[in-house]
Amino acid sequence: MTMEPRLDLDDIQGHIFPGFGSAHTAVIALRLDDPEPGRIALRPLLGDVTRMEQSLRDKEARRAALIAGMDVPAQPSPSLAIGFSANALRLWGHDTSAFDLSFHEGMFRDAEALGDRLGDDRVPVDWTFGTREQNRADVLLISGHSSRTTLEHAVRKWLDLLSPHLVDVLVEYGRRRPEDKEFFGFHDGISQPAIRGTNTGGEPLSRRVIAPEDPRSAEFARPGQRLVWPGSFIFGYAREVSSPLDPGPAAEPPAPWMRNGSYLVFRRLSQDVEAFQSAVAQLESRLTSLGEDVPEGWVASRLVGRWPDGTPLHASPETPDPAISGDLNRINNFKFKAASPETPIADGGGPSTSVPSVPPDPLGIQTPFMSHVRQVNPRDGKSEIGAERHPAKLMLRRGTPFGPEVAEEPEAERGLLFLSYQTSIVEQFKFVQSSWSNAKQRPAGGGLDPITGQDGTQENERKLRFFAPSRGQRTCPFNGRWVIPTGGEYFAVPGIAGLLELTR
Ligand code: HEM
Repeated sequence: MTMEPRLDLDDIQGHIFPGFGSAHTAVIALRLDDPEPGRIALRPLLGDVTRMEQSLRDKEARRAALIAGMDVPAQPSPSLAIGFSANALRLWGHDTSAFDLSFHEGMFRDAEALGDRLGDDRVPVDWTFGTREQNRADVLLISGHSSRTTLEHAVRKWLDLLSPHLVDVLVEYGRRRPEDKEFFGFHDGISQPAIRGTNTGGEPLSRRVIAPEDPRSAEFARPGQRLVWPGSFIFGYAREVSSPLDPGPAAEPPAPWMRNGSYLVFRRLSQDVEAFQSAVAQLESRLTSLGEDVPEGWVASRLVGRWPDGTPLHASPETPDPAISGDLNRINNFKFKAASPETPIADGGGPSTSVPSVPPDPLGIQTPFMSHVRQVNPRDGKSEIGAERHPAKLMLRRGTPFGPEVAEEPEAERGLLFLSYQTSIVEQFKFVQSSWSNAKQRPAGGGLDPITGQDGTQENERKLRFFAPSRGQRTCPFNGRWVIPTGGEYFAVPGIAGLLELTR
């Protein structure tokens, strides 16, 4: 039995793990105008910051309500997370040169490497904040609650407390959409790494449902859900290395007050739903004109790698299957290179005693190499770095859609507030975006990621290679931009003790 670390649930911020899971989220970026008074102004907020222990309890309460067929219980007060950019830390006199290089330099300096479109002045043309002194994001607040009104009250209270030393440059409200779908219409937030480690009572933090006698229970929490050493996401704990059962060296905090902390990536991604849908329609008609019989929804689902309800393609290539998408033990159960044989489920771990086998798809016939999920997480499949290094690239995603429904306000802006936690921005988020999504031949070929891949130009030319419905291989253009980064920043999210020390 692998010895897993006990995590400090009272110190780690609860947004890192397991997340807030609230119906409504506010993301507030603040400019730190007066460093010293600003530091003091932040102190009263620290009491509102949510610890992992609380977020785990909230999650358990939501689960219990769901099982009992009851409404999700109203949260007593909004959850809160706080992070600081390298600029904020420097304004407070800290040296950030030993921190993650991307964090130290800031997202603005990374924009080109991330594929954002730059103007002649080298400024990312689509960014609406984070480009100048006046609109820089020094401090980030993330808050979640079941009621939007309660959330708005809390946001106003915090902004009043912080003014005039910290001034908001962005206040964005996100919300869970019906069936947890992002704006292109696909169930999002399904595949998350499970985190190794226990609470103070010695219970695992991520629910393990695979029957313990099955060897896969040592590597997966649920079928297909990889267990990852906590140091990939939280400083001070063993990192993920190439051998899954062995703890790697501890992820050393870049400063003592970053123990139990993490790096947060925030990207405001605008989604042009009409542009995406019309590009999908064009690709459909192109395939039809080539003599292909293209079922409805076939093209869009190949671009993502799942059907809109989340059914993975190689578990059910022809049609979405509610028996798969409605079962947490099946919705993420797939691998690319090897088959996933029938998996026994522990008593109480799910609705059935075993999960059926799923065939592999090493050639990308069902789930194309170019599809979003295959590019951002090649699982056991092909890549230039080797499958044993893939788990170390995983991140904890906490994104949420923002903006009104298309039917309500067709002209309004909408998209995804992308949020991810990791202990290396360079090796995790930035690697996945720059070296995989934005690359034509990596991780395994097939073209630029049709959802988030970008090459710094307006045309954003893609040539997607995939197996058409006839099983013949096709290469088709899929040019354009429908996910447009409009600003962002990297933040350090310390533990509670670290927050106290920073604001002392
Ligand atoms: C507006 C932009 C985006 C949209 C619409 C989008 C949509 C989706 C959808 C529908 C899924 C499948 C559901 C799931 O497995 O959770 C997914 C998975 C994922 N996305 Fe994105 N995504 C976006 C941006 C990004 C970015 C910028 C990254 C990282 C650079 C990213 C990384 C991931 C990862 C790691 C997964 C899980 C893949 C897996 O483990 O199978 N996504 N995304």
